[in-house]
Amino acid sequence: MKTVLITGVLGQDGPYLAKFLLEKDYKVYGLIRRYTNPNFSNLDYLGIADKIEYIQGDLTDESSLMNIIKTIRPDEVYNLAAQSFVGSSWNQSKLTTEINSLGVLYLLNAIKLFSPITKFYQASTSEMFGNSSIDGLQNEETPFHPRSPYAISKLYAYWITNNFKESYGTFCCNGILFNHESPIRGKEFVTRKITDGVARIKLGLGDKIRLGNLDSQRDWGFAGDYVEAMYLIMQQESPDNFIISTGETHSVRDFCEAAFNYVGIKDWEKYIVLDPQFKRPAELFALKGKSDKAKNVLGWEPKVKFKELVEMMVDADLARLKNK
Ligand code: NAP
Ligand code: GDD
Repeated sequence: MKTVLITGVLGQDGPYLAKFLLEKDYKVYGLIRRYTNPNFSNLDYLGIADKIEYIQGDLTDESSLMNIIKTIRPDEVYNLAAQSFVGSSWNQSKLTTEINSLGVLYLLNAIKLFSPITKFYQASTSEMFGNSSIDGLQNEETPFHPRSPYAISKLYAYWITNNFKESYGTFCCNGILFNHESPIRGKEFVTRKITDGVARIKLGLGDKIRLGNLDSQRDWGFAGDYVEAMYLIMQQESPDNFIISTGETHSVRDFCEAAFNYVGIKDWEKYIVLDPQFKRPAELFALKGKSDKAKNVLGWEPKVKFKELVEMMVDADLARLKNK
């Protein structure tokens, strides 16, 4: 039986990846921070909260990571833990850097010292491109130009991951994932904020959604599809970096329209309040990934399309609110 350590197991991607690997008969260890009341709701949503062995640790605490790697010596580590909200990274830039940059260095050092056969996956991000593109698209060759403290912290993590591969021969991969969403997406992210807001308005539980830049465009996929790509990246003969995306882009405005239309509301703009507090000091205007390498080498392609994703999220929020 293969063993895996997933950091960030209580977030969005962690539960989808844990479910995927449990179905492949992995023994799954989940790293969680110390909490008085940890929140297992995303794992519960997927019905797997009692199938994971939890280990306490923190990405900012090197000794906890060393002890964990030394004790379980997992076959694979998927580092999904992060301060992942771009908007907060301007106000919490030190914390963001400590978790997203130094945390990765600590994990890699622990692997090098105590379990060099462990394979390592780093959750890299399309944010690292900023507004850089080649003919309007981003692929593995597109130059990086990070535009937030979050993106900068992730760029360090990207390069230190490559550097451990080049320096010590550690099996280290970067998945450069474009935005991916799901019914268990955090509510501060724009997609879930919209689907939760639309469900509330439809059920008469709310009347407005306050948003920032409606013109931003993102390449939105489904998290359930993207964790399969993470797994495939780690099963290759040699470690490599891959773009994971849908190749389609839509604006925040498009997302609003699709979600409202799905519940039968056509005059949706009257429910939107533009609020400058949700604008970013430096914005990424458009992301559109070209994941040809993933298709050709991994045989991976996204299955869930934009409209289906929006409807899945709205349905989940309607059901959740009705059940309450
Ligand atoms: P998420 O929902 O925000 O989950 C992040 C997880 O990291 C949370 O469970 C959080 O734990 C944990 N964490 C934060 N700080 C930690 C620390 N100091 N020590 C240990 N754990 C810590 O993020 P996600 O959407 O699942 O994304 C997973 C990863 O992919 C992240 O690294 C993100 O930056 C990256 N990524 C995401 C996307 C996307 O569109 N979703 C795209 C590209 C890359 P708590 O539950 O205790 O807060
Ligand atoms: N969150 C949020 N809230 N975003 C808003 C709002 C709002 O009220 N109004 C407009 N937006 C715009 C943001 O300015 C941004 O351009 C876009 O919606 C998407 O914002 P988020 O959903 O917060 O995601 P993100 O693209 O900044 O970051 C996500 O994707 C990255 C990959 O590209 C996160 O998951 C990151 O962790 C991930 O690396």
